Amino acid sequence: MERKTGHRAQGAGRRGQDAGRRAAATVRQPPAIPPPVTAPELRAAKGARRLVMVTAVDEPSARAADAAGVDVVLVGDSLAMAALGRPDTLSVTLDEMIHHTRAAAAGARRALLVADMPFGSYQTSVADAVRSACRLVAEGGARAVKLEGPRPEETAAIVAAGIPVVAHLGLTPQSVHRFGGYRVQGREVEAALRLIDDAVALERAGAFLLVLEAIPAPLGEAVTRRVAIPTIGIGAGPGCDGQVLVFADLLGLSAGPAPRFVRRYADLAGAARSGIAAFADDVRAGRYPAAAETYPSPAGLAAALARRLGGD
Ligand code: KIV
Repeated sequence: MERKTGHRAQGAGRRGQDAGRRAAATVRQPPAIPPPVTAPELRAAKGARRLVMVTAVDEPSARAADAAGVDVVLVGDSLAMAALGRPDTLSVTLDEMIHHTRAAAAGARRALLVADMPFGSYQTSVADAVRSACRLVAEGGARAVKLEGPRPEETAAIVAAGIPVVAHLGLTPQSVHRFGGYRVQGREVEAALRLIDDAVALERAGAFLLVLEAIPAPLGEAVTRRVAIPTIGIGAGPGCDGQVLVFADLLGLSAGPAPRFVRRYADLAGAARSGIAAFADDVRAGRYPAAAETYPSPAGLAAALARRLGGD
């Protein structure tokens, strides 16, 4: 009897311990991280919900976009202008794109991280295109790449290498010299029809998203109806399946006049300027640092220093 009771008590104790362990395990669970967004999931989102893409150039900007719940963080080659002070996107190198992509990868935990293939990294051959895409994934941590223009061959080869591809048509800034400036594309019927054909070819080649930049709204809508992959507009009207803006434009960090399609949601440049000016005022007036912003002296340090240094 005693043994039985003891046994029961032991069992109860073990059950109690198990329950305790389970409770402790439950308590110690880290906050649930939503599963990462995937390329197939975005491809399947067409018609179900509007997609949101934002560019980022580093960990803080990617972390902010990720925390805001965007679907895609794009490390766009526009970072040449937005973050590196260059006049266009043409000079940014593959190594520079990898550097920024790696930083953004640390911030984009949930959103799909897409890296732009820079000018010169895919125009020379299909093999170069695949090699460059592989480097952006392996060294930068990108989970997909984007390339500009009608490049179905390169797209198919990169997809065959296992890397999801975002296509980009319309005003593709790497072709600025061919366009003779940053001009709205697809304004004539023939050019518009060509763009629709290009979109269909890129979809057939395996692209899972299509960015449409600076084209008339009816063309954005027509392409969106014509392809089964989601279109992401930037100056392509409200008929696209989603929209993208450049981080610096959206948050008021970029200098100079913004394109027509930009809507500013914050004035970060203004906030930064006034924050830094207030810091400068405090330093000059001796208000910074205050006691609470200063490490306290260990007992006797000030007196010991005074003794050792004399009157200095
Ligand atoms: O480089 C970039 O920021 C882009 C977006 C405009 C889509 O390609």
